[in-house]
Amino acid sequence: MTKTICIANIKGGVGKTTIVHNLSHALSIKGKKILMIDLDMQGNLSDRSSNGQQRNSVYQLLTDNDINTEQCIHQSGIPNVDIIPSQINIGEIGRVLEQRGTSKRLYILKERLGEIGKKYDYIIMDTHPVLDYLFVSAMIASDYYIIPAVPSIDSVKGINLTRRFVIDIKKTNPNIKELGILINNIDNRTNTSKKIVASLEQNIGDTLFKTRIPHNTHINQAALNYVTTFQLKKNSICNTSFLELSDEIIKRMI
Ligand SMILES: Nc1ncnc2c1ncn2[C@@H]1O[C@H](COP(=O)(O)OP(=O)(O)OP(=O)(O)O)[C@@H](O)[C@H]1O
Ligand SMILES: [Mg+2]
Repeated sequence: MTKTICIANIKGGVGKTTIVHNLSHALSIKGKKILMIDLDMQGNLSDRSSNGQQRNSVYQLLTDNDINTEQCIHQSGIPNVDIIPSQINIGEIGRVLEQRGTSKRLYILKERLGEIGKKYDYIIMDTHPVLDYLFVSAMIASDYYIIPAVPSIDSVKGINLTRRFVIDIKKTNPNIKELGILINNIDNRTNTSKKIVASLEQNIGDTLFKTRIPHNTHINQAALNYVTTFQLKKNSICNTSFLELSDEIIKRMI
């Protein structure tokens, strides 16, 4: 059965897009079929997975009944990984549907994804750090969520805020589960980083993924070149981390 995972942290810039892109590639190397969905109007994930063409996006998916889900799915440039891209106007979807008086508008994404059937092992959603229509729709459509965090006080606050928000979401989607907290951009040479990670281990150690994604320039270089770290360099240390993370994720979902 397809499992849907939302990558979420109300704090911005913690590596959500980076993780969706590289984790999807790692899972595909493990033989899985993946659909990525870009629910961020900045469209960073779409930029990294596009050949520059105008394509049906999340906008058409959620607002146009004449277009089916398949018509919004495109190749991402990674074997066995597809994408439903973003568009700058997706931030307006909530307002457009409200003006139309569309009932059950928070469930449209879930229903549309249901149309795909069992084609994918995992659907992985990239969200933006705003508690709006798109974010709520993503959490309602998800079986699991992962909270990425970087070793900073603000980011740790983001974990708590995101978890508090999930308490509300559970009233609508009681089955959603936390798959884990993922520490990203860790630099073991700095004391602040070490202290924050030690405190997280002490307080929420059981929910942390064992895999940590290191601070590494390959990640930035890959993003700048619109590719994953696997496409950038065969022997990057980051590839090992994303492959280990994919193993942990597969195990946690059994
Ligand atoms: N482990 C890492 N090592 C080095 N750079 C990283 C790492 N993780 C993320 N970055 C860089 O940090 C920046 C922010 O990452 P990213 O865009 O993935 O965050 P985000 O959470 O999706 O941001 P937003 O909330 O704006 O959507 C990017 O330039 C990315 O290349
Ligand atoms: Mg992002």
